[in-house]
Order: sequence, then C-alpha cells, then structure tokens
Amino acid sequence: MFKVAVLPGDGIGPEVVNEGMKVLKVLSENYSVQFDFQEMQINAERYLNTGKLLTAEDVDALRKFDTIYLGAIGDDRVQPGVLEKGILLNLRFTFDQYINHRPAPLWKPFGRLKRDVDFNIDVFRENTEDYYIGAGGRVNDGHGKLDLRVKRNLYDMRVALQADSDVKDDFAFEIGMMSRKNIERFADFVISYAKLVNESSLTVVDKANVCSNIYGLWREVWTEKCKQANIQLGFMFVDAMSMALVKNPDKFRIVATPNMFGDILTDLLAEVTGGLGLAPGGNINPKGISMFEPVHGSAPKYKGMDRINPIATILAAKLMLDNLGRRDLGTVVNNAVRMTLDQGIYTQDLGGTYKTHQVGDAVVAAIRKMK
Ligand code: IPM
Ligand code: MG
Repeated sequence: MFKVAVLPGDGIGPEVVNEGMKVLKVLSENYSVQFDFQEMQINAERYLNTGKLLTAEDVDALRKFDTIYLGAIGDDRVQPGVLEKGILLNLRFTFDQYINHRPAPLWKPFGRLKRDVDFNIDVFRENTEDYYIGAGGRVNDGHGKLDLRVKRNLYDMRVALQADSDVKDDFAFEIGMMSRKNIERFADFVISYAKLVNESSLTVVDKANVCSNIYGLWREVWTEKCKQANIQLGFMFVDAMSMALVKNPDKFRIVATPNMFGDILTDLLAEVTGGLGLAPGGNINPKGISMFEPVHGSAPKYKGMDRINPIATILAAKLMLDNLGRRDLGTVVNNAVRMTLDQGIYTQDLGGTYKTHQVGDAVVAAIRKMK
C-alpha cells in the first residue's frame, strides 16, 4: 500500500489531480498495487483565509507519506513569490528534493517544430540551490548590511553582506550559491540514471563564461564525476543550449542543468515536445519523500471549465510509479496515454475537442483494456 499525500493546490490543480488519481486507482484492478490517498489543502485559499503557507504541522503530517502528488500552486490574488516560495519551493527544500526530473520526449504528432525530427530528452534540473535559494535583499541609499541564511539538510549557511556604494541609490541582491556535496549527489543521481537507460554521454548546461564562480564549481564536480564513471561529458552554455534545443533536439538525450536555467529550458522544451499540457516533473529525494507535479501552473482562468489537459499530471503519476519502484506500472500508464492520444482523444490545447474528464476516462479505459 502506497500512502499518497495529495495537494490539489489552486486553479485547475484539483481537476487535473483528480484525473491522475483515477488513473492510479484503476491500476489496482489488474495489478498488485494499492494506493491510500489523503488530500491536504495547502494552497492559496487557505493562505487567504488564515495567512498560513507551509506550516510545521503540514510538514509533520507529510512525513508520514510515501510520496506527494501535487496539482499546481498559484493565484492572481496573491503577490508573485508568496505562494511559490512559501509553499512550492519550501516543499522542495524541506523534503530535500534535490533533483527535478523533467522528461521531454517528442509526443508525435504534436511536436511544434517544422522539421520532422525525433528526440527523447530527460532533463535533470538541480532543485535546491543556484539562484533559487531565496537569499537576497535590498540596500537603500547605497549602504546596508544583509544577514542571509540558507538552511538545507546538507548545511545551515549564514552569509553576511556589507554593502557600501559611493553613490546614493537603491541596490538589490539575489545571491546564487552551490555547494560541492550537493552537486556531487546530484551528479551521482544523473549518472546512475544515464547508466540505467544505457547512455554513455550527457550534456551539462551552465553559464560558466559569465558566472564563473558558481558554475566553475559545478563544472569541476561534473568533470570529476563523469571521468570516474566513464561518461562522456559535453558542456553547453545556456544561451547556445536554448537555441540548440529548438534547432537540433535530436542531438541530446540526458541533460543536466542548474536550477534557474532548468526552469527556463524545461518550459521551452515542453513547447517543443507538444506543449505544457504534456510535460510532467518529479521533485526527487532518492532517500526521502519525493513530489510529483505537472510542469505547468494553476492557470486560474481555466478553473472549473473541464478543458485543461490532464496528461501532464497523469504523466507525473507515471513518474511517481517509477520512483516508487514500480517502473512496470509507469510503463502501463505511459502506454495508456499513448493509446489515448492515438485514438484522437485530447483536449483543445492539442487541437482536440475532448474535456479534461474524458481524457482521464480514456486513459482509464486504455489501462483496463491492456490486460
Ligand atoms: C516550475 C515553476 C516554479 C519554479 C515556480 C512556480 C516557483 O516555474 O516548477 O518550473 O520556478 O520552479
Ligand atoms: Mg517553471
């Protein structure tokens, strides 16, 4: 029995998560697997009513689960950053989910490139450091002191920044940071994935030609790790990479990227594969509690309309199964999605006419038919 904490979240989150749960539940009919779902309301609505984001009680409650299934977090009524940092990033950091796995296979015939080119890319985005650490602040009139703190499972880091400018102006800082041990464990995971899928090379993204401190350390670790593991390593600067992913996605198979560039590149790549409606992500802690979600956000304007594509969230459930050690069932879900699309059953973002719940029903039916 897998205990799954379900956080439907905001906007269209509840609708898509509902389809994903339908798909997981039907697996129990034909395969030896059981899920115990428990929903928790950690979202904008609760924040607006109570001021609570992710509380210590939430974290304690979540620790009792095997995995977390998340819809989407975000609401127009709340200032940008509050829910994102207070809930989503907080969950990723608190549960030390240092890997964000975002598969990007071409979903024929929905690929958005003019050229007919086949590809299957797995992006691994570092998920707890880089420019996402939330350490920064403002120095007004050119003078000030910032006492910053970054707390992770691996360390509790304090940074003091004394700023003195020769002119009176307002200055803002956003510190990026990486640590050797975190890059090492991230690289280990990516390399072991490469071996799992019989790949002997990988591409590592950065901007070491400009941010040479942070990405200098990053390169140092990758170079060592790939040498030890006998993996062929290619570095790409992020600007060139964004071009290459549109021009020649077939040249890439496994891609590792720092947090911020990974955020950007995975939206770009999702569009190339067929759209955000098909892009799932897994926030993974190989020894802890991982969390699975679609790459897309809460799309508030489509809330309750039953027209959003649930496939990204269904594929997030596939990643969850893989991660729970049931890659066999992950494959079942993936094949059922493929069958559904092949039958012409898809939502309007892909040019279809079907509703959210009908796509979920079709995936369920495909799973039933398979055995
Ligand atoms: C994503 C999202 C988040 C991120 C936001 C909502 C904080 O864009 O999961 O890609 O930047 O990681
Ligand atoms: Mg993003």
